[in-house]
Amino acid sequence: MDAISAIRDFEQAVLSAIADAATSDALEQVRIEFLGKKKGRLRELQDLIGKVPPEDRPKIGQQFNTAKTAADQALSARQLELAQPKKKAAQEFDITLPGAPLPLGKLHPLTQTMNEFKEIMGRFGFSSIEGPELEDERHNFEALNIPHDHPARDTLENFYLAAACVATGEPMLMRSQTSTVQIRVMEQQPPPVRVVSLGRVYRPDTIDATHSCMFHQMEGLMIGDDVTMAQLKTVLRLFATTYLGQGVHIRFRPSFFPFTEPSVEVDMSWKDGWLEIGGAGMVDPNVLEAVGYDPEQVTGFAFGLGVERFCMRRYQVNDIRRFTENDVRFLRQF
Ligand code: PHE
Repeated sequence: MDAISAIRDFEQAVLSAIADAATSDALEQVRIEFLGKKKGRLRELQDLIGKVPPEDRPKIGQQFNTAKTAADQALSARQLELAQPKKKAAQEFDITLPGAPLPLGKLHPLTQTMNEFKEIMGRFGFSSIEGPELEDERHNFEALNIPHDHPARDTLENFYLAAACVATGEPMLMRSQTSTVQIRVMEQQPPPVRVVSLGRVYRPDTIDATHSCMFHQMEGLMIGDDVTMAQLKTVLRLFATTYLGQGVHIRFRPSFFPFTEPSVEVDMSWKDGWLEIGGAGMVDPNVLEAVGYDPEQVTGFAFGLGVERFCMRRYQVNDIRRFTENDVRFLRQF
């Protein structure tokens, strides 16, 4: 056998023996047999090469070195592999076991509250609709019987948006009340009406534990042949009782709103003292006329409640700012 094929045979044999060695001990045997310093097969090969004619030596020597390096590398790689703890075979995993649970997010407490409000009012036959937060003066004031010189229209009491005004050619503001939606509904449909509208309102208030420049209201509107103030009070009491539980009392205090006549402030007591929860009243005939309803034919009531107030009362939240701070320790409680 010539030296070249002897080297090739050696290389093949040593590499497959290394790959086949199943334990470190077996691998050590392979090392001794092939690469052992004294009697290993590499040693024999070296002797053989010593006998080739000098002119062939450089070429054959190179072949020999390549084979030796390949054997050395394969050996150390396999040594490392066998020294490592055995990896679990795929079939040892039970793929039917449940995975690690992923933490689920939740709806914001106010979103939860509003969803619940809609659901409760839905049981009383009120459907829920939405209106825009960016409004014109007709819907925020005029049609609601709020005249030009009324202090509620002061630019310092509202968030007027200069850019929106440029875009539309008329004064535009962030709605200061959800009563705007009363007008939008009545403009679009004939009586009877029974709707609630929930959403954000904006006022440049000084922010403290009970005031925020953005908060949420639930507006209610019921128009029909014979709608009365007694029904208004009943609806409010049933609503609050359903949300909070038994023992809710509703109290009306005479008040004034341009869009209702008579108008009342609504107070609620539950467990302890009285809390103001919003305004209400019988829809002013001027408002009915502004949307093309006949005040001789229909009457109606409207109310606007603060959503935060209810949620704070139920969960004993003592600062309205908690709702917008995004502190997960607070948000997780709901
Ligand atoms: N829009 C009034 C407010 O924001 C509340 C209200 C609504 C009063 C409907 C009467 C009727 O204060």
